[in-house]
Amino acid sequence: SIIVPSVQELTNETIINVPPRYVRTDQDPPSVTADTWLPSVPLIDLQKLVDDVRADELERLHSSCREWGFFQVINHGVSSSLLEKLKFEIENFFKLPYEEKKKLWQVADNHEGFGQLFVVSEEQKLDWETLESYSAEMKKLAMTILGHMAKALRMDGEEMRDLFSDGVQSMRMNCYPPCPQPDEVIGFSPHSDADALTILLQLDDTQGLQIRNQGRWVPVKPRPNAFVVNIGDIMEIVSNGIYRSIEHRALVNSSKERLSIATFYSSRIDSELGPAPSLIGPSNPAIFRRMPLEEYFKEFFARRLNGKAYLDFMR
Ligand code: SIN
Ligand code: FE2
Repeated sequence: SIIVPSVQELTNETIINVPPRYVRTDQDPPSVTADTWLPSVPLIDLQKLVDDVRADELERLHSSCREWGFFQVINHGVSSSLLEKLKFEIENFFKLPYEEKKKLWQVADNHEGFGQLFVVSEEQKLDWETLESYSAEMKKLAMTILGHMAKALRMDGEEMRDLFSDGVQSMRMNCYPPCPQPDEVIGFSPHSDADALTILLQLDDTQGLQIRNQGRWVPVKPRPNAFVVNIGDIMEIVSNGIYRSIEHRALVNSSKERLSIATFYSSRIDSELGPAPSLIGPSNPAIFRRMPLEEYFKEFFARRLNGKAYLDFMR
């Protein structure tokens, strides 16, 4: 495998020009003109869903998943002291000397470790207990949200629980150092997520995430104590295309480092992936085929490396 120099290391030296391998002329320009009005990603109040007193919140969840594939969630019940502790530890992790982080460098064909992409948290030197509680909270939150989605989709709740109750969970921490030429590069290239549900915590109010909506890039403005939740490819398949896995990307800026923590939630490792049986019938034929989850991941990673479209192989 190819070892790429650490961007974080690169920015420890004062550079004026971005090295050519990072210059992206193939991308839509990052900046949107200031006078363009752009809609905001929908906001969902989880407490309202749990209380179940307002059917319109469930309807809003449904339309967010259909039209945006993204929403921010507030009143999610995850304690703010846990979030503060996690943020503190992750900031400290990225501040570790390069030599320390290099010891955790990824090895070929393994997604765990420190590197350019696909970092799984468990291998990193963070307080084990904080990470354990955080991933337990994320699993709980994912299951709660999936339960509400089942309801909104009019899908058999048992089917949803059966697919996801022992789901595959992984985490990635992203660090985007400031860049002298932010308009010339991309922090994270456009992609859709392969999992079912992604829950993203942004460490502060530094903007960077943009999502594809009606042909334009819409920035997600971080809200304090909110998570950004998005539909991944697996959920698009399970919902038989009703919910959409939307392309997104991350930009960088010239003045501030940005950190984010993504938690990926997928179905059980021994599950078979395909449209939920309760959602298909004579008037709703399956638009995706069925395949063991493990095979799907293999196909996904093979295709991702070839830069091809991800979901087409399931149609
Ligand atoms: C990602 O898609 O995981 C990157 C999200 C972000 O850092 O905002
Ligand atoms: Fe993503």
